[in-house]
Amino acid sequence: MPTLRPLALFALLAAAAPAAAQTPPKPEPADYLLPDDTRMTPFKDRVPMVFVTRNQKEWADLKGYFNDGTEEAVDPATGEKVTRKVVKIKVPMGLTTAPPVPAENPMTVEKWVLGKKLYYDEILSSDGTVSCASCHAPAKGFADGAKSSTGIGGKLGPINSPTVINAAYNRLQFWDGRAVTLEDQSQGPVGNNLEMFGGKADPWEEAVARIRANPEMVKAFVAVFGHAPTRDAAAKAIATYERTVLLGSGVQDRAEALMRKRVTDEESGKFELKADDYAAALKAEFAAKSPALKDLGLDAAKDADKVDAVAKQLLNGRTLFFGKARCTNCHTGDTYTDGGFHNLGIGADNDGNLPLSEFGRFARLQTGHKDTALVGAFKTPGLRGLLQTAPYMHSGEDKTLEAVVDFYDRGGNVNPYLSEKMRDTAAEAAYLTARAAGKPVDPAVKTFGPAKKPIIPFKLNLTTQEKADLVLFLKALNGDPFDPLIADPKAFPGK
Ligand code: HEC
Ligand code: HEC
Repeated sequence: MPTLRPLALFALLAAAAPAAAQTPPKPEPADYLLPDDTRMTPFKDRVPMVFVTRNQKEWADLKGYFNDGTEEAVDPATGEKVTRKVVKIKVPMGLTTAPPVPAENPMTVEKWVLGKKLYYDEILSSDGTVSCASCHAPAKGFADGAKSSTGIGGKLGPINSPTVINAAYNRLQFWDGRAVTLEDQSQGPVGNNLEMFGGKADPWEEAVARIRANPEMVKAFVAVFGHAPTRDAAAKAIATYERTVLLGSGVQDRAEALMRKRVTDEESGKFELKADDYAAALKAEFAAKSPALKDLGLDAAKDADKVDAVAKQLLNGRTLFFGKARCTNCHTGDTYTDGGFHNLGIGADNDGNLPLSEFGRFARLQTGHKDTALVGAFKTPGLRGLLQTAPYMHSGEDKTLEAVVDFYDRGGNVNPYLSEKMRDTAAEAAYLTARAAGKPVDPAVKTFGPAKKPIIPFKLNLTTQEKADLVLFLKALNGDPFDPLIADPKAFPGK
C-alpha cells in the first residue's frame, strides 16, 4: 500500500477544494443578520425623520406634512461633524405627543420609502395577491370597509380589520392586544394562513426568499440595513411607514385651539369650550371651503347660515360625550382611547353566552395571570377617522355611528362579564338588597351563575336629539385628508 507523503496529501486536498466550492453556500438566515456599515448609505446622506408637535415653536412655520430641513450631527463611526438633510413631520393638531419610536428602529426617509413599498406590495403574500393595503387601504380609512377581512384565496377572516390610522399610538396592537409594537404586529399577517400565507412550513422564510429574488428590493434593504432582506428588517421598515399614518386636525381640534387662544387673550384662565368657539371654527371651514364641512353633513356653498345651530349641536355632543353618555370612561386622550380592554358584550348571544372564540383579551393573558374581568374584553379603539372606517366593533356588526350610539344607549349586551363601566352598579346593589330581604325583584333582570348574580346594563336614556348631537361630535373628530405622500401608494418624496 503506497504511503502518501505530506505534500501529496496537500495536493489531494487542494484538488478537492474546487468541488467543495460548487456545493451552494448555506443560505443566510431569513430572520435577522448583522449589518455591514460599509454597504449602507453613508451617515451623512441618511435623512432622519423627526416628528414636530404643536407645542414646539417651529410647528406653526411648517408648511405641509413633510418638510425639508437640515441638522448638524456627528458621524458615530468617524466622529466627523456633518450637516445633513432631515425631514420634519408636522404632527396633526390634537395629537399632542409624537408617536413613540423604538430606539433600535430610528426613522429615516430611505427606510420609510422601503416600508411604504412593502406595505403596498403583494410580494409578502404566498400567492402574490394580497398586500397590507388589501385590508388597510387609504381609500377606506386604512381599513377595508368589510365586516371581516378577506385574505389570500378569498378566505374570510373572523374579525373586522382595524384601521392603521394612529395605530402608532396604540399601547398594544390587535383587538386582543397580542402584539406590543407595530414591528411585532407587522409580522403577523405574513404567517397567518387566512391573511397572506397559504399554509406552508415557514411563511417568513419563503417571503424573505421572494424579496431576495427581487434585485431592487435587495439593493434597498442593503442601503438601509447593511444586509440582505430579513424578516427583522422588513418589520422595521413597514412599522416606519405606519408610524406616519397620523390623523388629527378635526373641527373639534380647531375649536379647541381657538378656545385656548381666546382664553389666553382674555386672561380668564377658564379653559372651557363655548358654542362660539365651534362657530368660529366652522366659519373658518366655510371660508376655506374645507372638506370637513361635508363630514358634518354641511354644504360649503349653501349652509353658512347653519353655523350657529351646528355649533350648539357640537357643544352639546361634546358635553354628552364627556358627561351623560359616559364615553370618556374608556375613550380618553388625544386618540380617544384608554388603551385598555373592556367587555361590552359584542359577540355574546341573547342568553349572554360568550363562545370561546370571543374570549378576547382573557385568552391572551399569560397562564397564571388570567383575570376574569377581561373575559370577552376587546381593545378600546381610537375614534379619529370614524367616517372612513365603518363598519364598527371587532365584529363589524354596526354599520353606522347611529347604530353604535343606540348600542351604548341600551347599555351594551348583557353577559356575565359585562364591564363594570357599562353597568348600573347602584341598581344591581338595590336588586341584591331587595332579593336578600325577600322583596319582589324585576323579573326582566338577567342573572348569571350559581349565585344568580344580576347584571343590569346602564341605560343612557339619550333623547333622539342627544343621539344626533353625539354622532355629530364623533364626526367632528374626523380630521384633515391625508397628505398624498401618506395615502397615494405611488407618491414618494422628491418625485
Ligand atoms: C387579509 C386582511 C389583512 C391583511 C392582508 C393585513 N391585515 Fe392587518 N389586520 C387585519 C385584521 C383582521 C386585523 C385585526 C386582527 C385581530 O385583532 O385579531 C389586523 C390588525 C392590524 C393592526 C393592528 C391595529 C390595531 O389597532 O390593533 C395593524 C397595525 C395592521 N393590521 C397592519 C397590517 C400590516 C402592516 C399588514 C401587512 C404586513 C397587514 N396588516 C396585513 C387584516 C389584515
Ligand atoms: C366601558 C368602556 C367603553 C365605553 C364607556 C364606551 N366605549 Fe366605545 N368602545 C369600547 C370598546 C372596548 C370598543 C370595542 C368593542 C368591541 O369591538 O368588542 C368600543 C368601540 C367603539 C366604537 C367603534 C369604533 C371602531 O372603530 O370600530 C365607537 C364609534 C365607540 N366605541 C364610541 C363610543 C361612544 C360614542 C361612547 C359613549 C356613548 C362609548 N364608545 C363608550 C369601550 C367603551
